[in-house]
Amino acid sequence: MGLHVILLGAPGSGKGTQAARIADRFELVHVSSGDLFRVHMRDGTELGRRVRDIVARGDLVPDDIVLEMLHQPVVEAAAAGGYVLDGFPRTLEQARAAYEIAKELGVVVDVVVALDVPDDELVRRLLARGHEEGRPDDTEETIRHRLRLFDECTRPLLEYYRERGVLARVDGNRPVDEVTASVFAAVEAAAAAKGD
Ligand code: AP5
Repeated sequence: MGLHVILLGAPGSGKGTQAARIADRFELVHVSSGDLFRVHMRDGTELGRRVRDIVARGDLVPDDIVLEMLHQPVVEAAAAGGYVLDGFPRTLEQARAAYEIAKELGVVVDVVVALDVPDDELVRRLLARGHEEGRPDDTEETIRHRLRLFDECTRPLLEYYRERGVLARVDGNRPVDEVTASVFAAVEAAAAAKGD
């Protein structure tokens, strides 16, 4: 049976970067809530129009809309042999919903890899990306707002997953390849524990 990995971390911590590498190395489907929202917004779907202002402000999209968008991709990814979730779950409510979906599918999360990076470095990375790529939520004020929401709404998930015995913390404040080596080690340990 395939692996089920969750990438947890603040905005700019490297979730997208590392999730893509995990997906490639362990042949998993990369499911990124932020990327999916950006595709909906780009394509002008009804869901994309509903979330556009929320995402631009750096607010969290309401849980019901997040689940409406992600349910199908998660089901398909599980059927394809396993997934790495990036950007979801982001609230305790979403974590409980993710658990219910996984239960429905007969799978469990094997490891939650949490990337630790200090705020100053997060702001530096996201401002640099804002200059290069022009993502509308990469302005200093919006970045700081996203970081506050991470502390309030997402940080409690560290304790939630620690209690469930699946949390692996990784120092994300290092060159990308070094972070990847630690991330892969955490995923490999989970795979070995599972007997894959
Ligand atoms: P989302 O796209 O998930 O944004 P985010 O969490 O703010 O994450 P980022 O994409 O900014 O950063 P990342 O951690 O993926 O890092 P990355 O690898 O890109 O969500 C966007 C919005 O959608 C949210 O604000 C919200 O509105 C909504 N949303 C999404 N999911 C939701 C949910 N579940 N519930 C409610 N709302 C939701 O790297 C960042 C930069 O740093 C890049 O330029 C990269 O090249 C660089 N970098 C990466 N690693 C390193 C390194 N080790 N050293 C130096 N630079 C690095």
